[in-house]
Amino acid sequence: MKQWQITDEWSFDGLKLVDVPQPEPGPGEVLLKMQAVSLNYRDYLMIGRGYGRMSGELPLVPLSDGVGEVVALGAGVEDVALGSRRLPCFIQNWFGGDLGPAGFDGALGGPLDGTAREYMNVAVASSVPVPEHFSDEEAATLCCAAITAWNALAEMPETAVDGGTVVTLGTGGVSLFALQLAKARGARVIATSSSDDKLARLRALGADETINYSKTPEWGKAVLGLTDGRGADLVVEIGGADTIAQSMRATRADGTMSLIGNVGGSVAEINLPLVFMFRKRMIGISTGSVADFQAMMAHLDDKPDFHPALDGHIYDFEGLSEALQALPKGRHFGKIVVRVG
Ligand SMILES: NC(=O)c1ccc[n+]([C@@H]2O[C@H](COP(=O)([O-])OP(=O)(O)OC[C@H]3O[C@@H](n4cnc5c(N)ncnc54)[C@H](OP(=O)(O)O)[C@@H]3O)[C@@H](O)[C@H]2O)c1
Repeated sequence: MKQWQITDEWSFDGLKLVDVPQPEPGPGEVLLKMQAVSLNYRDYLMIGRGYGRMSGELPLVPLSDGVGEVVALGAGVEDVALGSRRLPCFIQNWFGGDLGPAGFDGALGGPLDGTAREYMNVAVASSVPVPEHFSDEEAATLCCAAITAWNALAEMPETAVDGGTVVTLGTGGVSLFALQLAKARGARVIATSSSDDKLARLRALGADETINYSKTPEWGKAVLGLTDGRGADLVVEIGGADTIAQSMRATRADGTMSLIGNVGGSVAEINLPLVFMFRKRMIGISTGSVADFQAMMAHLDDKPDFHPALDGHIYDFEGLSEALQALPKGRHFGKIVVRVG
């Protein structure tokens, strides 16, 4: 079988498509024939050992997201059908409850070998079946970004009415999933982007209101204008240092900021009285557990009209390195998918 691996150096020169023996499933595992995989910005950073020690050791199979068809069962596996599709969960050893100090030690695509291979073994306990109505390409996207958005929205204040008002920032994978999942839960969504073209696409995906954050740097104030001066119930905060002040402004008293990313920098100044005087909550979100995946899949199983936003260009397996290198150019809208099977 073929697999992509970062071989002997942490760089795109070191990323190679190699031949390796096809594995056999061990006890409690199934062998997946991978059908499609999808990319996160993390995968691009991982090629350059962007997560330091947490990147793991070489050789490393990159990518955390993908879906495969079950083609063999390991000893003791009884309740999984051959031919069914399963999705390996992002952190393989986080089954539920607290994440704990081990953090991302069990994460696919670094430090554990990831999904960019024709066949992979996965423990039944660390993977979930995917709803029938998703194509392979769609199912392949339901891992890192989707579970993060799912858990970000789980922090909606209990006092929110009519599904609440959610603000999403930009058009990365987490934000698009947050928009789509929030709409599926009946929320009102205010979405931002630096591009008017992308704002039109956000509206087509269901955004109720959009703001160009380049043209309106005080977009937090604009959110107040769209919410009768009250602010949003929940902000899905991916920008970090560049956006936290506006996110704080956009969040209502007693509202929540789900802190997810740092595309605009990691070290921020925060006006603390705004947090405690108005009881605004800031909570860190770190992907999700197997139990979270099970809950998300059960929810999506009941949403046949839910289809993840995919970029128009689907790559073939040989094009995976090219696909990764397209990520920082930011020309895509929706998840970048690579077909494997
Ligand atoms: N905590 C977790 O578990 C977790 C999981 C997944 C990802 N993340 C993190 O979440 C962040 C987003 O990741 P991603 O994969 O969804 O997307 P991404 O590809 O890293 O995000 C790129 C998008 O961010 C938007 N952006 C950049 N600067 C912005 C700003 N100042 N204000 C608003 N939007 C801005 C841009 O949107 P426009 O082009 O539309 O302007 C851009 O397209 C990253 O920092 C990532 O590391 C965290």
